[in-house]
Amino acid sequence: MHRIVDKEVMAQGTVVMNEIEAPLIAQKAKPGQFVIIRANETGERIPLTMADANPEKGTVTIIYQVVGKSTAMFADMEVGQGYADVVGPLGQPTHLDNVGKVVCVGGGTGVAVLHPITRGLKDAGNHVIAIIGARTKDLLILEDKMKAASHELFVCTDDGTYGRPGFVTEQLKDTLTENPDVKLAVVIGPVPMMKFTCKLTEEFKVPTMVSLNPIMVDGTGMCGCCRVTVDGVTRFACVDGPEFDGHKCDFDELMQRQAAYLEWEKQSWDRYKQAKK
Ligand SMILES: Cc1cc2nc3c(=O)[nH]c(=O)nc-3n(C[C@H](O)[C@H](O)[C@H](O)COP(=O)(O)OP(=O)(O)OC[C@H]3O[C@@H](n4cnc5c(N)ncnc54)[C@H](O)[C@@H]3O)c2cc1C
Ligand code: FES
Repeated sequence: MHRIVDKEVMAQGTVVMNEIEAPLIAQKAKPGQFVIIRANETGERIPLTMADANPEKGTVTIIYQVVGKSTAMFADMEVGQGYADVVGPLGQPTHLDNVGKVVCVGGGTGVAVLHPITRGLKDAGNHVIAIIGARTKDLLILEDKMKAASHELFVCTDDGTYGRPGFVTEQLKDTLTENPDVKLAVVIGPVPMMKFTCKLTEEFKVPTMVSLNPIMVDGTGMCGCCRVTVDGVTRFACVDGPEFDGHKCDFDELMQRQAAYLEWEKQSWDRYKQAKK
């Protein structure tokens, strides 16, 4: 069993942080990699990025948005309880090269995935400009951590309740106009946000890396469930990714595949909520 040693609830209860005992994974984890977790022996296998790892303490940290039955089950677990299994580290680590000036753009829970990459790019000697956004002030996460991980931080909210009103793309357009020496963009968030951000960085000819989150089952390249199309070629996000060249990804196909089981997912979450009453 992988015990939960710390838990924090954020963004009005919609996002949860768990620090979990997983000593062997903590020793090998690198930014950009993920784990697959099950709450119990009959639980669904859920991929979540490691937001942090502490090899001395033997723990990894996950930050997840409660969007359905499994993440709701996770959120109901308290410190001292444990996950039945945690598999990892999975996926390719991020290339943390020193390219000069980079911009890291995060939306929603994507900021949790972006944070260790932002910190790694700063540690590699890059000048890091970070732009994070959320629908509204109360849903914004990790502002302090992103501030510490970057040299400049811009915050946007769709409804204007905090920071710059509007989407992260508007701030990004200004940032790229004022900084023609940006050599790389890293963009992580909801798929439509990644799609439109990549269109913008393509106009500015800035190479862009995104992290794709298709439905996954085994996470080891065996089932083919996580297939995505990149540059017209089928790739498996669990072993070839999850990071890919954002200018070459078929985001529309990804959105279609992500929505394949929506009806059943809704029924399953409704049954879980009903059983809790
Ligand atoms: C590599 C990777 C890293 C991820 N990292 C994070 C993270 O750090 N934080 C976070 O909040 N979310 C992350 N996700 C998404 C997370 O896995 C899904 O939100 C979760 O599986 C939803 O499960 P559920 O039962 O609560 O919801 P469900 O009701 O089952 O599904 C809700 C939606 O989540 C997606 N989903 C469902 N099952 C899976 C699955 N087995 N694999 C992938 N997506 C699924 C589908 O788009 C679905 O429509 C990541 C996904 C991938 C592939
Ligand atoms: S999740 Fe099965 S091949 Fe990637």
